[in-house]
Amino acid sequence: MCLSGEANSMLPVELRRANSGDTTAIVNLFRDISDKELDAQRIESCIDKYPSVLALRGAKLVGFIYSSSFAPDILELLNIAVLEAQRDSGVGSMMLSELERQSSQKYRAIILVNSVLYPSKKTKKLASNFYLKNGYNLVHTTGSTNVFIKDLA
Ligand SMILES: CC(C)(COP(=O)(O)OP(=O)(O)OC[C@H]1O[C@@H](n2cnc3c(N)ncnc32)[C@H](O)[C@@H]1OP(=O)(O)O)[C@@H](O)C(=O)NCCC(=O)NCCS
Repeated sequence: MCLSGEANSMLPVELRRANSGDTTAIVNLFRDISDKELDAQRIESCIDKYPSVLALRGAKLVGFIYSSSFAPDILELLNIAVLEAQRDSGVGSMMLSELERQSSQKYRAIILVNSVLYPSKKTKKLASNFYLKNGYNLVHTTGSTNVFIKDLA
């Protein structure tokens, strides 16, 4: 997989499940868009066991999702990100649909927590509209942290 350079937006987006060999590319993508360093070991153990999605344009990684177990029948979406230049063209929504498809056999719902309180040097905007648009229900908010759930059919 290509770890640097621009993604060619003319190429179609392909989705696939991540494997442990993709961890470095995931960490690098997140480093590109935020000031936080992800824990590579944690990601590797999650993608070994739980649903995950990569979005690629050609060989270039443009987005990812990884997850973990919240309860035996509830999956927790731990992290989702799309490269800034690739946003607002449906990549995030496509990845969510694919995560739901992978999860629907084993899990009855997907839960996620979205918070502005995690330390960050960049100004953060909660992705609430994105989750609402994709059928996630806001089940609790503290004003700074939102909890969303979607039932899987
Ligand atoms: C959230 C994210 C994954 C969405 O990816 P994307 O490829 O832009 O998503 P889509 O193109 O499918 O959907 C974009 C829609 O969601 C909305 N949206 C996306 N990010 C948003 C945000 N941070 N706040 C509010 N709305 C947001 C857009 O306005 C757009 O709505 P529209 O279609 O009505 O115009 C992407 O913005 C991202 O990587 N953000 C930074 C990381 C992040 O916040 N992750 C969530 C942690 S819980």
